[in-house]
Amino acid sequence: MYKITVLGGDGIGPEITAGAAEVLKAAAEKYNFDISFDYALLGGAAIDACGTPLPEETVKKCLACDAVLLGAVGGERWDSLAGDMRPEAGLLGIRKALGLYANLRPSRVFPSLRSASPLKLESSPCFDLMIVRELTGGIYFGRRGRGERNGTPYAFDTEEYSKPEIERIVKLAFELAQNRSGRLCSVDKANVLESSRFWRETVIDISAQYPDVELSHLYVDNCAMQLVKAPWQFDVIVTSNIFGDILSDEAAMISGSIGMLPSASLSDGSFGLYEPVHGSAPDIAGTNTANPLATILSAAMLLRISLEQEAAANAIESAVECVLEKMRTPDIYEDGLLTVGTDEMTAAVISHMRRENNEI
Ligand code: IPM
Ligand code: MG
Repeated sequence: MYKITVLGGDGIGPEITAGAAEVLKAAAEKYNFDISFDYALLGGAAIDACGTPLPEETVKKCLACDAVLLGAVGGERWDSLAGDMRPEAGLLGIRKALGLYANLRPSRVFPSLRSASPLKLESSPCFDLMIVRELTGGIYFGRRGRGERNGTPYAFDTEEYSKPEIERIVKLAFELAQNRSGRLCSVDKANVLESSRFWRETVIDISAQYPDVELSHLYVDNCAMQLVKAPWQFDVIVTSNIFGDILSDEAAMISGSIGMLPSASLSDGSFGLYEPVHGSAPDIAGTNTANPLATILSAAMLLRISLEQEAAANAIESAVECVLEKMRTPDIYEDGLLTVGTDEMTAAVISHMRRENNEI
């Protein structure tokens, strides 16, 4: 019996995780394994109920399960709270508490969504890239503060990485590259930042252990440009927390819709937390219009990586591809195709999986 903890979070989070949980149940039925769900609070929902964005009980429940499925956190309602009391602090806190240092953010073009990309992809090669973002270090966790110097107020955040922190994420990226097309691009700002020069030196040191992987380096500003110019040049990109945060939103958008992209946050071993790359979209919460596919695809990653249910993961992914040929949520609307809501899209993925079942 696999135990999954579901953290719905805020905005559309509860709706899309509920849908993805239904898909997981259907996959468990089809592939003969048992799965149970436990629910806990995170972000704004936790602030409202318990006065903190990351209650102790949530950490406990996450530590006691095989994998975590997360929706999204945040919303205007909590924007005026102090930094460490905001919903986002809950998300950063759970990543840290669970030791989830490796964030895998794939970005690829679904054939039927080529025209949804803001890039002119019709006449270009398809792309399928993986951003490996360091998730528990760097400036998001460094020393920060505010002060006043000679009557002038100031604020600061600190980017700092230890050698072991860089080594473990870079090794994971090299291993991923070995299992893909064998190319790894490390992204930094080594022309300006000392922490980036250290990052690059460490990457070069580690590369000696992976002679079969072709390594390149790019400055982050150049990488941002290359991603819109020719995204197909990339396979695996490895980078720091802040650069990965920014580049992964860019990579998500060029794939057609940020509503399509899943992610996995991993520690050593098979445990992981899975969440869509998009945010909590409070403006459309409760309207049954959110695209559930990023969360459903995150559930597929959960099955593949944490539960080692490869066949079930493949079944979900192929059901998503088929369903996209026929229907769309408003964010990926296309003339001539049925426009559906969150629930209908989820139900279609499930029924496609079940139909496949009958064929087998
Ligand atoms: C993400 C988000 C988060 C991050 C925020 C909500 C704290 O932007 O997962 O990319 O910066 O990591
Ligand atoms: Mg982000």
